[in-house]
Order: sequence, then structure tokens, then C-alpha cells
Amino acid sequence: MGGDIFIGGGGENYAEPQTLLLSHSNRHGLIAGATGTGKTVTLQIMAEGFSAAGVPVFMADVKGDLSGLAVAGSPEFKLHEPFMTRARTIGLDLVYQAFPVTFWDLFGQQGHPIRTTVSEMGPLLLSRLLDLSDVQEGVLNVAFRVADEEGLPLLDLQDLQALLVWVGQNADSLSLRYGNVATASVGAIQRQLLVLENQGGTALFGEPALSLQDLMALEPDGRGRVNILAADQLMASPRLYATFLLWLLSELFEELPEVGNPDKPKLVFFFDEAHLLFNDAPKALVAKVEQVARLIRSKGVGVFFVTQNPADVPETVLGQLGNRVQHALRAFTAKDRKDLRQAAETYRDNPRFDTADAIREVGTGEAVTSMLDRKGVPQMVERTLIRPPSSQLGPISPQARAAIMAASLMAGKYDTRLDRDSAFEMLARRAEAAAREVEAAEARAGQEEQAREREFQNARRWDGGQSSGGSSGGSSGRTSGRSTGGRNRSAAEGFGDAIASVVVKELKGTTGRRIVRGILGGLFKSR
Ligand SMILES: Nc1ncnc2c1ncn2[C@@H]1O[C@H](COP(=O)(O)OP(=O)(O)OP(=O)(O)O)[C@@H](O)[C@H]1O
Ligand SMILES: [Mg+2]
Repeated sequence: MGGDIFIGGGGENYAEPQTLLLSHSNRHGLIAGATGTGKTVTLQIMAEGFSAAGVPVFMADVKGDLSGLAVAGSPEFKLHEPFMTRARTIGLDLVYQAFPVTFWDLFGQQGHPIRTTVSEMGPLLLSRLLDLSDVQEGVLNVAFRVADEEGLPLLDLQDLQALLVWVGQNADSLSLRYGNVATASVGAIQRQLLVLENQGGTALFGEPALSLQDLMALEPDGRGRVNILAADQLMASPRLYATFLLWLLSELFEELPEVGNPDKPKLVFFFDEAHLLFNDAPKALVAKVEQVARLIRSKGVGVFFVTQNPADVPETVLGQLGNRVQHALRAFTAKDRKDLRQAAETYRDNPRFDTADAIREVGTGEAVTSMLDRKGVPQMVERTLIRPPSSQLGPISPQARAAIMAASLMAGKYDTRLDRDSAFEMLARRAEAAAREVEAAEARAGQEEQAREREFQNARRWDGGQSSGGSSGGSSGRTSGRSTGGRNRSAAEGFGDAIASVVVKELKGTTGRRIVRGILGGLFKSR
């Protein structure tokens, strides 16, 4: 089983091994650098190291080039010789090797589908996903609250849509109980849901929902599973991407037990294109991310942010990233130079070179690095030649991917969507029951009307008088008036009726009671 992770060679002639300590990998990390400077390869060799050490990893594959982890590198590969030369320079005995990869894909095409339920996502992250205003978020909170009280499971987007229709129809009575529920806000949320649907958001919500254990599993040979989420298509909807990853982190936080300072992490999470998480993010969200990063450490989860420019990551978050690999930054504009100076200032100087110069000068696959030492102190900055990967550089073929998916332990577990009874079906049944009641009431009213009419005719016959069209017109007016009243009444009574109580019973211990539970065990709960 692999131990601490060899990153590359630093010092004079790149001969001093630079290592990422397993015991400090939950102190998080940063991989930064301009495009084409070697970030993905650094991520790849770290994933290899963690897997070999029995640590599962989760990463989003933005360009499809991480799939190579599933296949061993090859002497036939055009960069074989440069790789061997590099390996000799840094004192590495390079052995080509494949790693146990599981492919995931929110859209279910390039990997096994990953789903969560609307209720697991919770109102706060959903509001972020839908880009809602504070007022709209308030209304969404009410909707979740009502669903929880009524035992209406919110699994997929259809459930949420049905619930919102119901909330819109009952806005007046809900406003009395929960404060203003403006139908305009309900309408705005519905429109945003349509946008999410058009971006493919439907696929993310539903069952079977992802079991985190499936990400954390070790292979029979003890190696950690390398979970790769296809993110090329996902990147077209950055908000979906960022919110999904944030949700995953919050689930990990909530479900994993406290472990203090473990010998090695339980899981390492790579957050590629991390700037998407922070772009235009409201202050409150940045504060939450900072909190998540701080607290998830003690659950044994390491988070590595990958981004082009470290300035994209807010300082409060950056300050927590203990292990750093800074590839080259460009210095074309004044702003570039300022960012570069700022990046350099966060490192412990090395008397052998100027940090800012080094960050500008390092070549492809070379980086300015600083890992935490055994005491948890950042080491002096080094110019490190990063090791070449053992697995294939670049993507695998679609056929190879399909073969790996078919052979995976996950094959068949998530592939088919389940459609359990939930809010959509239940509300539809309520509406149907209400409609039937209205029909019955109308029928009853019709019979009464006919009976009255007969009595009236009989009386008239006895009187010998004439019937008038006016009176029957008036009575049918009364009938329709009664039926409208019946519909309102039955909708109000249907709410919280027998069906709901059966479902509440059925749902004890499952999603139902968790509908408004705060993400992150209260951390993400809006206060
Ligand atoms: N550690 C390394 N060993 C050998 N070659 C490397 C190494 N790192 C990078 N390279 C070479 O540099 C190329 C570009 O690296 P990489 O794809 O990691 O860049 P990147 O920073 O991820 O770029 P982008 O921002 O475009 O995604 C690789 O395809 C490889 O040829
Ligand atoms: Mg890359």
C-alpha cells in the first residue's frame, strides 16, 4: 500500500523529494496555474497517490482528460522518453499502472447517473441554484415547510413544480399562517425552475439517490476508488456544477463521523474550475464555503481547489489551503503582476530564489510548491519538477469507457430511475379526490333540484298555474354556486387528510422528515 505521496523533485537539480503527507491531506490544498501549465497532470498524480494509499477521491473532469487514470501509461506513448528522463531527474522509478476508476455523470451518459432528491438539496442550495431573490427564497422556504408538515415527499423537479402550483393556489391561506406568500414570487420560482429544466437539471433530481458509501468504497485490493464526474457538459451550466459540488460536500459533512486527525483522509475531493463557485457568490455563501472547509477537516475530508488564478479564491478560503502547487502564472497586464505578487506573498521564502520570479518562470509540469510538514507548518517554498503520471495522459476512448462502466460494481444500481409515490402523485390524487367530491356534490345538488322541481310542478298542477323559465334559471345558478363552494371546501379539507397521515407513517425515518432539515446539519440552515 502506498504511503505519503511523492509529488516531484525540488531543491538543487530537482533531487530533493517533495511529498504530500497523508496525515495532513485533510488540511486541504490548492492547485493553480495558467492554462496548459500542468494543473490536470498534478491532479492526476495526486489522485494516483491517494488511490494507491487506500484513499478514495472524487473529482470533476472538466475536459475529459482525467479518464486516462483508468488505463496504464504505455512505452508506445509519444511522451514516453520525456517522461522517463523526467523520472530519472527526480529519482523516480516510473512504473505504468491503471487505477480503479468509477465514472459518474449527472446526465447518465458518460458515467453512472448521480441523483439527489429535492428535499436533500434543501431550500438554501436550491435558491442558489435557481438564483432566487431573498423574497423568493422565503417563499421557497414556506413551500418546503408545508411539504414537510403535510408529509409530501419532494423527490424530483415534478414534485417541486406540483407543490408550487398548490402553494400558488393556496397563497392566501398560507400567507395567513406563514407571512406573505406572493403569487408573483411563486411565478418567478416556477420560471426559474423551467430554466433549470432546460439546462438538464431534471436529471439531477430523483431516485435512487446517491449513497455516499459508493464514493467512499475501497477496491478489494485495498486501493481507493477514483470517482470521476463527467463535467464537460455540466460546465455549460456553471451554477448547476458549483451547487452540485457544494451539495456533495455538505452531504459528506453531514453523514461522516468526526475523526479528529486521522492518519490518512477518508476522502479527497478535487474542486476543479473552483472560480465558478465563487464568481458572483453572495457573501453569505462564501462564508458558508469557508465554514465547510474549516469543519469538514475533522471529518477526514480533504478539499483541493483547482483554479487558474489563486486570486479567484476568497482570502478566507485560501488561508485554509495548507498544501500548494502553484504552476506558472502569466504577467502580461498590471493586474496579472499584482495577482502574481499577491500569490507569491502567501509562501515562506526560499533564500535560493525569488518566489514571484519563480512563479513566472517555471516550465510546463514544473511548479512552486509548499506542503505542510509533520508539525503542520508550511514548508519553505520549492521549485519542483512534478512527476509524470503512471496512468495514461489524456482521455480514453468511448469504447474503453463503456467497457469500464459495464464492468463496474455500480453498474445497474443507479442506471434506472425509480418513480416512487411523491408530492406530484399525491397532490394529483388530492386534486382528483376533490374533483370527484365536487362531481358528487353537483350530482346530489342536481337530484335535490329535480326533486324540488317535481314538487314545484306537482304543487302547480294542484294550483293549476303556469311554470316559468325564470325560476329554473335561478335554481341552476344556485347549483353552480354551490359547486364552487364545494371545490374550495374540499381542497381545504383535503389538506392534511387521511392520505397525508398514511404517507407520514410510511416516511418515518426516510426523506420525509428531512425535508427542511438544514444542509450541513444546521450550518446551511438559513437563519
Ligand atoms: N508532471 C508532468 N510530467 C510530464 N508532463 C507534464 C506534466 N505536467 C504537464 N505536462 C505536460 O503539459 C501538458 C499540459 O498539462 P495539463 O493538461 O496538466 O495543463 P492544465 O494546466 O491542466 O491546462 P488547462 O488549464 O488547459 O486545463 C500535458 O499534456 C503534458 O504534456
Ligand atoms: Mg487542465
